[in-house]
Amino acid sequence: MNLVQLRENGPLGVRGELVIRGQAAGMRATLCRCGASKNKPYCDGSHHEVSFVASAEPLTRESEPLAVRNGPLRIHPETNGPYTVRGNLEICAGTGRTVDRVTSVRMCRCGHSANKPFCDNSHERVGFIAD
Ligand code: FES
Repeated sequence: MNLVQLRENGPLGVRGELVIRGQAAGMRATLCRCGASKNKPYCDGSHHEVSFVASAEPLTRESEPLAVRNGPLRIHPETNGPYTVRGNLEICAGTGRTVDRVTSVRMCRCGHSANKPFCDNSHERVGFIAD
């Protein structure tokens, strides 16, 4: 089953058949969502240095069970923008509660969305710079 688990004040823990920037990337990754990692898209622990604040318990969204829960999970970090994720994906809170079930989603990686873990285009306002 593909899932992304939110870590309180920390990164995104992703599990599945990962394809990152078009390259097979194994079955697990820890992706930066504070915007401060020097090893983007991966977390390097910088969220501690910048005192990143992000809940791992956003509100549950209305969603239907996915017909298929695995398969390739394609993650594309947009230049100066969010992760575009395509594939069957369950977004889970830190406690394991299902927050949402999607097949396409834009997830914040600049750290500034008011609607984390989703992108709300705040990256444009704050001038987020990332490959
Ligand atoms: S990447 Fe953070 S709001 Fe879009």
